[in-house]
Amino acid sequence: MSVIKVAILGFGTVGEGVYKTIQSHAEELEGLLGKKVVVAAVLIRNKQKKRNIDNDVLITSDFNEILSLPQLDVIVEAIVDKEPPYTFLKQAIQKGCHVITANKEMFAHHGNELLMLAEKHHVSVGYEATVAGGIPVIQTLRQLLNVNRVSHVQGILNGTSNFILTEMREKKQSFASALSLAQAKGFAEADPTNDVEGYDAFYKTMILSRIAFGDEPNWEDVEREGITSISSELIEAAERLNLRFKHIASISKVGGQLKAAVKPALVGKSHPFYSIEGVENAVNVQSDIVGSITLQGPGAGMFPTASAVIEDLVFVCQDQPTNKNFKLTTTPAFSKEIQEDVKEFWLIHGLSKNYRNPSIVFVSKDTEETAIIQATREEIDTLMNQQKARCYFQILGEHERAYKNDDVTIAVL
Ligand code: HSE
Repeated sequence: MSVIKVAILGFGTVGEGVYKTIQSHAEELEGLLGKKVVVAAVLIRNKQKKRNIDNDVLITSDFNEILSLPQLDVIVEAIVDKEPPYTFLKQAIQKGCHVITANKEMFAHHGNELLMLAEKHHVSVGYEATVAGGIPVIQTLRQLLNVNRVSHVQGILNGTSNFILTEMREKKQSFASALSLAQAKGFAEADPTNDVEGYDAFYKTMILSRIAFGDEPNWEDVEREGITSISSELIEAAERLNLRFKHIASISKVGGQLKAAVKPALVGKSHPFYSIEGVENAVNVQSDIVGSITLQGPGAGMFPTASAVIEDLVFVCQDQPTNKNFKLTTTPAFSKEIQEDVKEFWLIHGLSKNYRNPSIVFVSKDTEETAIIQATREEIDTLMNQQKARCYFQILGEHERAYKNDDVTIAVL
């Protein structure tokens, strides 16, 4: 029987997970593909390091040795950084291999070029693992929500950040120890700055944007902020107001334009993200026919990510017509006009005592310094400038219900 030969680039958390899953699910793969899937080669950096890889697998730190193999069907890329992975995948496609990547930074930058090159060479590109770990959000959007006009996508897209926020709230861990634990569990990037400063979620958001809307906003126009400004004190204050901090990516089509932001926000109990805890990710899609859908599941880690890769392996090997580019044209989402004068809810921390401004509605307060206010974006900007308030965060969803009728004592100002 003929075989499907796979090479895995990188043997970190994801690469090792893919290797083990190809072995543990050999029967399912053979049943689906009618051929045995064999790992022919693994690209590693340090040849001295001991790894649990079978003796008949080529282990090399020279990518050319892999490209020179007499038969190679699929290359799975699980490295970090844009280069050399981009160059490796281009060469693999030019050689006629299907490619699968889990590398969101590289794919956010070069996804289009890879997809076009793959189309030219009649091979497929799998990238389910680039966004939201094990949640099949890419295929859901690409295959199952084609007629629907998507108006808004919101997501918790970084497992490490969500894990840290949960540990800080539930277990009163410090930021540093929660991050160390996320690293030990294999959730964090090699450089966790990408996780905690919002870059990782930003790349994933840009990939989602192309799939959901066929386009992406100018990267410089996207507000990007990580979770490093969220102190234990703020988390506790929010909790007393029945709110939880989440790191949220949001893309919507407003007035015909794409707007995106990746930053911490607060959600109340009625928001679908309120109970997304630990390394879980979630994606909420709002579209015209189906309404609102929320997908949730593990967003990082060895096997959740391997799950996305392994499903892509079957997909690319079935020669499905997946190489249509990220949608180059799209039906515009039904769009709302920008309403600058809408008063939104904000948690504000660092106000001066007895601050009063007639246009700003104080809804409730936790302490003298921390309050929930209702204000337009312009008003909040003015307030921040006048008051040098230390920070403010938007409260998303129908949060009012979250703190009405509860037993928290709230002083309404
Ligand atoms: N570091 C990433 C995260 C891994 O924490 O979400 C999955 O992309």
